Amino acid sequence: MKNIYSNIYKNSPKNLNKAKKFLKKNKIIGVPTETVYGLAGNAYSDKAIKKIYKLKKRPKKNPLIIHYDNLKKLKKDANIDNRFLKLYKKFSPGPLTFILKKKKNSKICPLANAKLKTIAVRFPSHRTIKNLLKKLHFPLAIPSANISGKISPVSSHDVFDEFGKNINFILDGGMSKIGLESTVINLCGITKIMRPGAISKKEIAKVLRKNIPFSKKFSKINSPGLLRKHYSPGIPIKLNCKKSDNRAAFIVFGKKYKKNKYTFNLSPKGNLSEAGKNLYKVLRKIKNLDFKRIDIVKIPNRGIGIVINDRLKKAAH
Ligand code: TXA
Ligand code: MG
Repeated sequence: MKNIYSNIYKNSPKNLNKAKKFLKKNKIIGVPTETVYGLAGNAYSDKAIKKIYKLKKRPKKNPLIIHYDNLKKLKKDANIDNRFLKLYKKFSPGPLTFILKKKKNSKICPLANAKLKTIAVRFPSHRTIKNLLKKLHFPLAIPSANISGKISPVSSHDVFDEFGKNINFILDGGMSKIGLESTVINLCGITKIMRPGAISKKEIAKVLRKNIPFSKKFSKINSPGLLRKHYSPGIPIKLNCKKSDNRAAFIVFGKKYKKNKYTFNLSPKGNLSEAGKNLYKVLRKIKNLDFKRIDIVKIPNRGIGIVINDRLKKAAH
């Protein structure tokens, strides 16, 4: 039988070198990270960045996150300050993205940051992408590997579900451990959280020793969270449901729900981190079945629950 997933490659030294070759030729590949899977391209190449926007059908005004494996490389592209260093020390590599001032002589392709004066940067902790970045002389622009506005992928098969053979190479790194996109924090001017993620407002406030607000503005510089419609499975979603019927997929959380073909439990144990890891997987599964609606129970608004509720609100918009 022919393997339909023939563009998915397992994580091995040989395949890392293959990935490097693709990237050096300014081609786009699928890559794992600890948050979600991404589409990676050379951040210094116009050609690569244009391909990313085209593949994702992403509006040009929505900038990409640039990924690095070390501070020395970042310093060529962005100005850093004390605030950044404190947070970097505590949380990087990991699921935190910083918005910094772009250096005038940076080689980052202006399209990659929507011609803004700022760039978003992240140091991913997933071993595969870290090792790949180490091999390269340029940073990678890596947006989530989904068509703009759709559900983010958390496995190599999800990337295939979004793009099929439109990309030639998807590097497999197992299920994403976190399953929700990184926290985005603005460090240009007043410190603000633009998108909630696994690194919480509380943890950040503790390091900076002050309260950090969530950004409420729907500015032209749409930050992840700030696009109104996002993470969409393409059918209506109703939040805070107590019960459901047989036409809807019922997403639940905790042990009191019976198993049946309409019910999808994010975490039978009632563990919010597990629920976060499963959220996009479950939404994608339901999307590929024949449901007309999704009903979802109330998810506790604490810890990762805050991130889950942020994404659900946008998916339901
Ligand atoms: O966890 C993640 O961050 C994943 C993995 C693959 O690293 N990436 C990701 O990228 O979520 P993306 O493109 O799906 O979301 C990044 C968001 C964009 O929606 C954009 O609005 C915001 O970051 N962003 C990027 N550069 C920005 C900038 N200079 N100012 C404000 N927001 C920015
Ligand atoms: Mg995205």
